[in-house]
Amino acid sequence: MEPIVKSVTLKDVHSDIRGPLYFESLKMIERGEKVLRLNTGNPATFGFKLPESMRKALVENVDKAVAYCDFRGMKAAREAIAAYHVGKGVKGVTPDDIFIGNGVSEMASMATTVLVSPGDEVLVPSPSYSLWTNAVLIAGGKPVFYVCDEKQEWCPDFEDIKSKVTPKTKGIVIINPNNPTGALYPEEFLKKVVDLAREKNLLVLADEIYDRLVMDGYKHTALASLADDVPFVTFNGLSKSHVVCGFRCGWMAISGPKNLTEQFMQGMVQLTSMRLCGNALTQLVIPAALEDSAYTEEMINPGGRLYEQREATMREIAKIPGLSVVKNKGALYCFPKLDKERFNITSDKKFAMDLLHAKRILMVPGSGFDWPYNDHFRIVMLPEAHEMAKAMQDLGDFLSTYRQED
Ligand SMILES: Cc1ncc(COP(=O)(O)O)c(C=O)c1O
Repeated sequence: MEPIVKSVTLKDVHSDIRGPLYFESLKMIERGEKVLRLNTGNPATFGFKLPESMRKALVENVDKAVAYCDFRGMKAAREAIAAYHVGKGVKGVTPDDIFIGNGVSEMASMATTVLVSPGDEVLVPSPSYSLWTNAVLIAGGKPVFYVCDEKQEWCPDFEDIKSKVTPKTKGIVIINPNNPTGALYPEEFLKKVVDLAREKNLLVLADEIYDRLVMDGYKHTALASLADDVPFVTFNGLSKSHVVCGFRCGWMAISGPKNLTEQFMQGMVQLTSMRLCGNALTQLVIPAALEDSAYTEEMINPGGRLYEQREATMREIAKIPGLSVVKNKGALYCFPKLDKERFNITSDKKFAMDLLHAKRILMVPGSGFDWPYNDHFRIVMLPEAHEMAKAMQDLGDFLSTYRQED
């Protein structure tokens, strides 16, 4: 018998967040070494606790989740989600426009499967959380990267986006606030994206999973609130704002003119009904979570964990010669730059492996986010402020003598 070969659509699929560095860290942990794993944005692993409002909703309603629910998701949950998006200014969203699934990850994969035919192109950011690149590839499409500009606080370069639209472009992915840069995009940029989508017939895929994690008094603008004559799919979920990554609770909201999204909607019905329904248990907590904005606000305000952890990180990075960073306005991440002259980094993967071995800190290098250079890496700012500060001091100590060979 011949070996079983995998599909060619998986050829370029990659995830460095759980790649060789991750497996090396597991080996170190097995040997009894203590590794600070800053490779994933998984809050509960750093002591963030399930909000009480959600625990109560889960315990009191558990019997309601025993049967398969509606393939789009439980009615009460979809009502709460629709109200949330309408509250953010997205016009005309009803519970029938919502699909709930096992995290934004599953919904992104379904959306690209529905949207993309072989050879179609989708614009995705660079640097970028690899979910979107992979989802486009698996659907048989081609991810086309647009550049996010560090000099503009990581706001995407609109001229670059425009220049990359071709007759094959079907959609554009906007991740705002962004992973890995933590950038929050200005409304002026978002409006240009909407105008381009209108002009070029693009579906806008807005990944707004971090929309509630915005700091310093800034306000998040829902992309889909900026027009009602353009089709949008907005992705959101509870993994980050309510720290329940393991619940696998995410959704998508379709908005814009119904006549333009009719086929897309049919495709989503085909895919979601095929898998019967999403995890009903996690849907029980959605109404309670969306009412409990206080839980999230507490984390992002001064004195709250996410705020203080970011402050500690920025304070310590500022002391490290050769390292610079754009302070993130949202999310849990920053994407610092390593000086070329000083460190001569020709392989960012080697840099991350060397750091792991020397200081037992696991971080994902920029190339893991489809960043084409060797000069960045992502920091996940989830440990408590004092641990974050210590990790940055260790990083500084490591970098004080680090230089790659020519
Ligand atoms: C930008 C972005 N989108 C989606 C996800 C996945 O979210 P979920 O847990 O809902 O699948 C993540 C997770 O880190 C993310 O950073």
